[in-house]
Amino acid sequence: MSLRILRKMVNYKSAFVLAPMVRIGDLPTRLLSLRYGADLVWGPEIIDKKLLVCERVENKKLGTVDFITQSNNDDAVSNLVFRTFPALETNKLIFQMGTADADLAVQAAKTVIKDVSGIDINAGCPKHFSIHSGMGAALLSTPDLLVDILTRLVNEVGKPNEKPISVKIRIFDDKDKTLELVSRLLDTGIANLTVHCRTKTMRNREKPIRDFVPDIRDMCRAKNVTFIINGDVKDYKEYAELQNVYGEDVGCMVASAAELNPSCFRKEGPLPWMQVCRDYADVCEQFETYKSVAKYCMSRLIPKGNKSKSARVRLSAAKSLEEIVTLFRDELNDEGELVQEDSEKGTEKRIDKASEKDTEKDTEKARSTLNTKRPAHVLESASTSMEKRVKA
Ligand SMILES: Cc1cc2nc3c(=O)[nH]c(=O)nc-3n(C[C@H](O)[C@H](O)[C@H](O)COP(=O)(O)O)c2cc1C
Repeated sequence: MSLRILRKMVNYKSAFVLAPMVRIGDLPTRLLSLRYGADLVWGPEIIDKKLLVCERVENKKLGTVDFITQSNNDDAVSNLVFRTFPALETNKLIFQMGTADADLAVQAAKTVIKDVSGIDINAGCPKHFSIHSGMGAALLSTPDLLVDILTRLVNEVGKPNEKPISVKIRIFDDKDKTLELVSRLLDTGIANLTVHCRTKTMRNREKPIRDFVPDIRDMCRAKNVTFIINGDVKDYKEYAELQNVYGEDVGCMVASAAELNPSCFRKEGPLPWMQVCRDYADVCEQFETYKSVAKYCMSRLIPKGNKSKSARVRLSAAKSLEEIVTLFRDELNDEGELVQEDSEKGTEKRIDKASEKDTEKDTEKARSTLNTKRPAHVLESASTSMEKRVKA
């Protein structure tokens, strides 16, 4: 199977894409990013071993394909590790895997390959949940292993299923060392290389280093592998500017800016945060997103400041997904202010106090789900009744 045919199904070339983001990159953010103009979306990193204990379930009610693991927590019926909505994600969804073992990577990739458009290996994330046991950015220090994982994925999963395999890396301080790694990766048969233009010790607030981009781009062109730049790309305007500088075939990947406002993909410019929150709440309602996931992701969409305080406080205090949806649909105006201010003076204060506790609880929950021993995402309890169905 030639790379040209694989690329017909997933077009990485020139693509403006949503980055892999643990928790944030669940279905609602991905669907909104696509709606706002993203060409492709990466799912959050999921560890090979986690995927291998999942059961694949076709959720007829929602039109989704779910990968579920049985809970070891008495409160939850089951745990949703990964959910895709094929009606909108076919040919658009790249599944990102955390691995440090070629056998496990191949086995795990085989369980999900029919439901996703491609598999990406995380060789860039420096966070503990990723680098423990040699995964993520730790793979940059074990290039033989990384090359083995990619080559086996290409030959044993990519080619037989006619799906592309890709990898996301960071740069080294040293240019030659970076280019040497790139050269080895390009020989594995991957279809796309994404480079986060920061070293593994650099934080996201630091300016990316794009000095090696022209060389990497030329090497990718020579091997007919597409190339996506990541690091501090904020919106469509910057994507277009970067293409002007580095070439129209180069793509761009956005993480932080999309976490704060997924409408950054819009050619016409980002939408106001209230509209994005309403769209987000609608999608959460359609897909029965677990309350704590909706709360966590939506809390990132609300800007700091006095004007948005009511939205922040009320979101934090919401006890159910229905309350979140009603808040954004009916109780806040387009500026995010309460339509009806509470006449009773102490109400806001009480909500403030309650929401502080709630936020602590949700943060704790978010932390625990980031622990790879536990699920990344949990199904809403079966009692949640939702009327709205999927709008294609
Ligand atoms: C909330 C969050 C979660 C992330 N999770 C992942 C992940 O699962 N896999 C990965 O390769 N990178 C992950 N990253 C890193 C991003 O994909 C991206 O490489 C990095 O944030 C730089 O892009 P930016 O400057 O646009 O934020 C995450 C970043 C953020 C902000």
